[in-house]
Amino acid sequence: MTAAPDRYEFASDNTAAICPEAWAALVEANAEGAASYGDDKWTQRVSDRVREIFETDCEVFFVFNGTAANSLALAHLARSYHSVICHESAHIETDECGGPEFFGGGLKLLPTSGAAGKLDLTEVEAVFLEQRQRGLHAPKPRVISITQATELGTVYRRNEIERIAEFARARSLFLHMDGARFANAVAALDCAPKAITWEAGVDALCFGGTKNGTAAGELVIFFKKELADEFDYRAKQAGQLASKLRFLAAPWAGLLSGEVWIENARRANSRAKTLAEKLSKAGMKLEFPREASAVFLRMPDDLVTQLHGRGWQFYKFIEPDVYRLMCSWSVTEKDIDDFIQDLKSSGRNVSS
Ligand SMILES: Cc1ncc(COP(=O)(O)O)c(C=O)c1O
Repeated sequence: MTAAPDRYEFASDNTAAICPEAWAALVEANAEGAASYGDDKWTQRVSDRVREIFETDCEVFFVFNGTAANSLALAHLARSYHSVICHESAHIETDECGGPEFFGGGLKLLPTSGAAGKLDLTEVEAVFLEQRQRGLHAPKPRVISITQATELGTVYRRNEIERIAEFARARSLFLHMDGARFANAVAALDCAPKAITWEAGVDALCFGGTKNGTAAGELVIFFKKELADEFDYRAKQAGQLASKLRFLAAPWAGLLSGEVWIENARRANSRAKTLAEKLSKAGMKLEFPREASAVFLRMPDDLVTQLHGRGWQFYKFIEPDVYRLMCSWSVTEKDIDDFIQDLKSSGRNVSS
């Protein structure tokens, strides 16, 4: 039996390597010793650059991963008897092993439905009212959390975020954004980062670097300084303060230098666009609009088995037959063409 060839991994954008600019900055940071726990020039440089990119004097913290970023940000915005309204497909609800509830000391997530991974304010309002009607017998809603780009590959427009923020403000709720793929959203909308964050009413953003080209390390950004009060203690207590923080910060410095982060995201989005177009042309049905770096499609079991047999890695996202193909900064046109080629020669129902 011959081994399946090495294939680009569509399973996740975490499978990509560290991008060259992030790697070069890491090597540079490794050339000398530096102060620990964030008192170093790399950490300072990234924090200043974030303020420049977002065009505001925000507070910036580093943690190791996205689960920690979301969990600690939400724990900081809410008390243990509060609740967080989110989409039922939100990573905080489905993939963080109860992290927000754990770090929030008992806070409760309230999942709601909504088309294509986005919150539907009618649903949000229904959940909000139901909780409030129960008075102190139900955890008090305190935060709305949205994901940008969403878990289903769609992107909130500025006016959609503004509407959610307005709704939140009117009910004394904070607005949290899980931005594990924030760069992909900015690239997709071709907008200023501030336009879909603090200007639109977002209070806290978890800004992801891992899927954009670093090895590890996500940023928690508070756009209102008072909300950040003592977050450094919370992160330290949770084991999220790196003693050699410069090695998390330096790759971020590489990523945020010039347009690297946007270029990486643009490439991922544009390859996903090509993939979506070629899949549609081959007769495959896309499940959600392709707006950022992910493509969702229905595939019959026999086609999936054949593609897996040819070495392609991807997995089922929604039962019974919706699969996710995720593009990262490193996927090439050839990877896309090879996949489509194999899909056409594997599938019985695929038009060539
Ligand atoms: C929407 C979203 N949020 C957050 C994360 C971060 O998760 P992790 O804790 O694996 O870094 C991910 C990773 O897949 C994600 O897709």
